[in-house]
Amino acid sequence: MNYLLGLDVGTSGTKTALFDTSGGLIASRTFEYPLSQPQNGWAEQDPRDWWRAASDGIRAVLADSGVDPQEIRGIGLSGQMHSLVMLDAHDEPLRPAILWCDGRTGAECEDIYDAVGRARYLEITANPALTGFTAGKILWVRKHQPEIYEKCRHILLAKDYIRLKLTGEYATEVSDASGMGLLDVPRRQWSDEVLTKLGIDKALLARVYESPEITGTVTRQAAEITGLAAGTPVVGGAGDNAAAAVGTGVVVDGRAFATIGTSGVVFAHTSELAVDPQGRVHTFCCAVPGAWHVMGVTLAAGASLQWFRNNLCPDIIEDARVRGVDPYVLMTEQAARSPIGANRLLFTPYLMGERTPHLDPDCRGAFTGLSAMHTRGDLIRAVMEGVTYSLRDCAETLRAMGVTSRELIACGGGATSPLWRGMLADALHCPVTTTVGKEGPALGVALLAGVGAGVYDSVPAACDAVVHTGTPMLPDEQAGAAYDAFYDVYRTIYPALRASYAALAKL
Ligand code: XUL
Repeated sequence: MNYLLGLDVGTSGTKTALFDTSGGLIASRTFEYPLSQPQNGWAEQDPRDWWRAASDGIRAVLADSGVDPQEIRGIGLSGQMHSLVMLDAHDEPLRPAILWCDGRTGAECEDIYDAVGRARYLEITANPALTGFTAGKILWVRKHQPEIYEKCRHILLAKDYIRLKLTGEYATEVSDASGMGLLDVPRRQWSDEVLTKLGIDKALLARVYESPEITGTVTRQAAEITGLAAGTPVVGGAGDNAAAAVGTGVVVDGRAFATIGTSGVVFAHTSELAVDPQGRVHTFCCAVPGAWHVMGVTLAAGASLQWFRNNLCPDIIEDARVRGVDPYVLMTEQAARSPIGANRLLFTPYLMGERTPHLDPDCRGAFTGLSAMHTRGDLIRAVMEGVTYSLRDCAETLRAMGVTSRELIACGGGATSPLWRGMLADALHCPVTTTVGKEGPALGVALLAGVGAGVYDSVPAACDAVVHTGTPMLPDEQAGAAYDAFYDVYRTIYPALRASYAALAKL
């Protein structure tokens, strides 16, 4: 038998999943790690935790499956995008990684525009300078921790650090590299112009590959640690969203998916480069060589409900533990008892600032319309609806750019809730389906490994062979009209509060 291994270095944990070449899941394990928020709006993780979780995951999956490691034809890597990993001359992390949801680099993003010019930067990198992207973080470390910058010899992204541990190679690929703010996205290579103007030495950066290309093979040392066979090829892989696109078959024009994970994303494939002149959505190279994707990002999607669960539902967590069910199941049962509009309560999910459509690291969450009559079920429903409206903002922005799709494939933990999927279908006026397999990014990069190893002819051919979607949930027009009325009010909240957020951030 032939097998393919996919790893997804996520924000809450690393998933390791082993598949057969028809896409059947053989074994999957996730090992978690903490996220530290040393200041309001900061987010960091220790890259060594990622490697512990990845190597424990690989060992566990090999043990659970009993598969002979020699039969694994290839490995694909996926992960949270934009994280800054800085290594010294011995490949040791010099500081915790600064993550995608960290908003500390407002001043450095302005420095980038001063150095490159706003219009020219958008033209080259196809995106604005965003606080979550890697370039600003590099400048932040250079400004605030010069002693660390001095010692830095290599800059990597999360999954590419795992690649280094597995293969000894400093390599990345176009989809994840697109989110660094240093790549010439139309030409799919580092931008010498941006690097020179920002004073960043290209030698610090990894070599760029296309997603299905082989970037190296498992070293003897990594084989001893993980149980893998030395010499197993490791392909470029993809950032988590581009990987999810492969795992859900969003690899041709007219297809799109929406994720409700920690962050929320509306993602559409495009074979023509499409850039929003206002920079409200991201245009990145996708995992299909020669093609791109556009995506809108809501920073705190599942993270909003998780915040609510952790801080306001201790009794539900305990009840769920006793009954052996997921707390989210009990929370959504309460939300389902509240009507559309949560009894006139709205929630804006800007707990970590926002990207699409506001591009504002300082904005924060708000409940609007809170009344003494509201129950916890209303609040939970308002959180779920607020995330849904934020995803509608993303979809509307893509539509305005002419990037459209006939249906959405829902993925991520939040999409396992039929209530949330129904909200998506009704509020976005669009059929919503799911894939039969639920492994998204891990399956996506396993398929890329299969393309690299010659198991499949191309990325679309791999998806055709392996990815199957279920029966779509159709939008209910009456419910949609009810959501429209609340969405119209939702859209007035950010402009009304923008100045208050800015003032709060200055206190
Ligand atoms: C994408 C982004 C997030 C992370 C989450 O630009 O920042 O989706 O990749 O893992």
